[in-house]
Amino acid sequence: MSQPGGDLDTMLPDGTFQDQVAIVTGGGSGIGLAIAEEVARLGGSVVLAGRKAERLEAAAAAIGAAGGKALAKATDVRQPDQVDELVGAALAWGGRLDMLVNAAAGNFLVDADQLSVNGWLAVVNTVLNGTFFCTRAAGRAMIADGRGGRVLSVVASYAWTGGPHTVHSASAKAGVVAMTRTLAAEWAKHGIRVNAVCPGPTDTEGARPLWQDPEAQHRILASIPAGRFGQPAEIAQAASYLLSPYADFITGEVLVIDGGEWLGKGLA
Ligand code: HXC
Repeated sequence: MSQPGGDLDTMLPDGTFQDQVAIVTGGGSGIGLAIAEEVARLGGSVVLAGRKAERLEAAAAAIGAAGGKALAKATDVRQPDQVDELVGAALAWGGRLDMLVNAAAGNFLVDADQLSVNGWLAVVNTVLNGTFFCTRAAGRAMIADGRGGRVLSVVASYAWTGGPHTVHSASAKAGVVAMTRTLAAEWAKHGIRVNAVCPGPTDTEGARPLWQDPEAQHRILASIPAGRFGQPAEIAQAASYLLSPYADFITGEVLVIDGGEWLGKGLA
């Protein structure tokens, strides 16, 4: 392996998601795109949702060029009407909906006492409300269909450890963890599994600015016992496992993929 986690082949059999349809929010870039690519590689048809149509189109074309099936659907997850349209578009295109991946997020580092109302709302509306709007719309379709389904959200460990300078995101992600466990119990009777993946610092275009500064990079790497950033492919592997039939008895779980980052809080 040339780079840890960077060039993994899938561990799941080809065709794991054959004839299935997934919506991936935040699917135009970063961790969302990595998950969408992996689901498509395993035979699933993926609907990429996000705010930037151009980026989604490019991502869908790349998945198509690699032999997968993808549809781009510009959507602001903060707008319930647009979310309903997204689910309608997925059903019209793919004929069914089996999976929802909530990867859309917004984040920036800020002192809590300096955070504006709009800044708070931008993040909480995207992460917490957006995840609920998408999950509710997808869940309704899955319940109506009667075939069950899977919901997978992307969270962060500061949801339970706390994380200075991320009060908006930490509060919202904590809500998503609570939503995951609540709906796992509530929707099990419909055959819907609800889980989350929890990446640590992952080498994506969106997150990289957080450690652009060499001093920040050094500090963050020192906080990760494994001594490196995660790769999007590693998150995608864990996500596809949780979405797959191999995880059929797992629900309400939060799978941490962070090289031990959240545990590494020793005194020395
Ligand atoms: C302070 C900021 C800010 C910043 C935005 N705001 N960025 N305040 N510092 N860096 C404030 C604005 O001033 C404004 O408030 C309010 O937030 C809304 O900003 P807009 O740009 O108008 O809103 P919007 O277009 O909705 O932007 C949403 C966003 C944006 C969250 C602010 O950054 C976004 O969508 N980002 C998506 C990409 C992203 O965040 N990726 C990071 C993922 S990586 P005022 O009061 O001025 O009107 C990640 C890694 C976590 O999360 C690491 C885990 C281990």
